Amino acid sequence: MAQMVPVDAERPDPEVIARAAAILRAGGLVAFPTETVYGLGADGLNPAALARLFQAKGRPATDPVILHIADLALLPRLAREVPPAAWALARRFWPGPLTLVLPKQPIVPDVATAGLPTVAIRMPAHPVALALLRAAGVPVAAPSANRFGRTSPTTAQHVLEDLGDTVDLILDAGPTPIGVESTVLDLTRPIPTILRPGGLPREVLEELLGPVALFDRSVEGPAPAPGMLPKHYAPRAEMVVLLGPRPAVRARLRDLAERYLRAGCRVGALIAEEDREALAGLPVILAVLGSENDLEGIARRLYQALRDLDAQGPDLILAREFGTQGLGLAIRDRLVRAAGGRVVHVGEAGD
Ligand code: TXA
Ligand code: MG
Repeated sequence: MAQMVPVDAERPDPEVIARAAAILRAGGLVAFPTETVYGLGADGLNPAALARLFQAKGRPATDPVILHIADLALLPRLAREVPPAAWALARRFWPGPLTLVLPKQPIVPDVATAGLPTVAIRMPAHPVALALLRAAGVPVAAPSANRFGRTSPTTAQHVLEDLGDTVDLILDAGPTPIGVESTVLDLTRPIPTILRPGGLPREVLEELLGPVALFDRSVEGPAPAPGMLPKHYAPRAEMVVLLGPRPAVRARLRDLAERYLRAGCRVGALIAEEDREALAGLPVILAVLGSENDLEGIARRLYQALRDLDAQGPDLILAREFGTQGLGLAIRDRLVRAAGGRVVHVGEAGD
């Protein structure tokens, strides 16, 4: 079993950090907190360490990883071209929940980028992550520290459950503050394109860049990287997401819950405080994410709530979206993927 070591989230013990950095430099695997989710770190320039990383996660070799840096000077050493927009974004939003996709330098191993000519780079904001990256002195490849296809870890305990057998060390700094992964922005396209909505909202990017496109699977066909597969972040239970205006969604939530209960299903619901009334009196397993107006709170609690709900063994989970403003877009994306694309549009013409 991996060793799990507590670290202070604000002021990590330099000795613990030095130990973790030594493991990384020796080709080992260290799970560490970022402000989004826990990452599973390996030396991003060491192909053997990367091979171990992919194996530990059960991640297909076709799915590229993000290289994490603590020093802006590393950006042009990893990216062959760093356009003015990339520098502007890095200066404004790093450290933070933004990943930039740029043309790669030859120094970046093909295993890291799954053979793509581009590389994904991010400077995380969590003090523990920054301290570890500085001490390691190498770019650190870090996918979310979950088994491939499972819900991303927002606590060290989640990492232990998923990867305890294969990781050398887990740094435990408590729950991660944002709770959903970084926004992945592709700067190699004519228009900057969000490949994965995340912790940094589209609107905030647009203030700096002007129009930002959103990669749309249904329009663009096969995804450029399998991290964008529709089924991801998945619970064991079947899941359905209701999309649409709030009153219509609430009415349909009750209607569907009643129908599945009558059919003998164990029904779970991933809902907001404001939805409780709509399900009142029904024997539904509830996971309440907080107020529907507190998107930050909902993002922070989302993965833990999904795990807790799933652990109670429902046959079916009913969930609802929280719109597309701000973090709402990332939350909807994760819900829809957890549901394997099973959505119900409510309140539209013909409904
Ligand atoms: O918040 C995060 O980004 C977390 C923390 C640990 O930093 N990391 C994370 O890594 O979510 P991962 O590997 O679970 O997701 C990385 C995403 C995937 O969707 C992958 O396909 C995409 O980034 N990606 C990586 N390199 C890419 C590239 N060269 N081109 C396009 N997409 C890329
Ligand atoms: Mg992941």
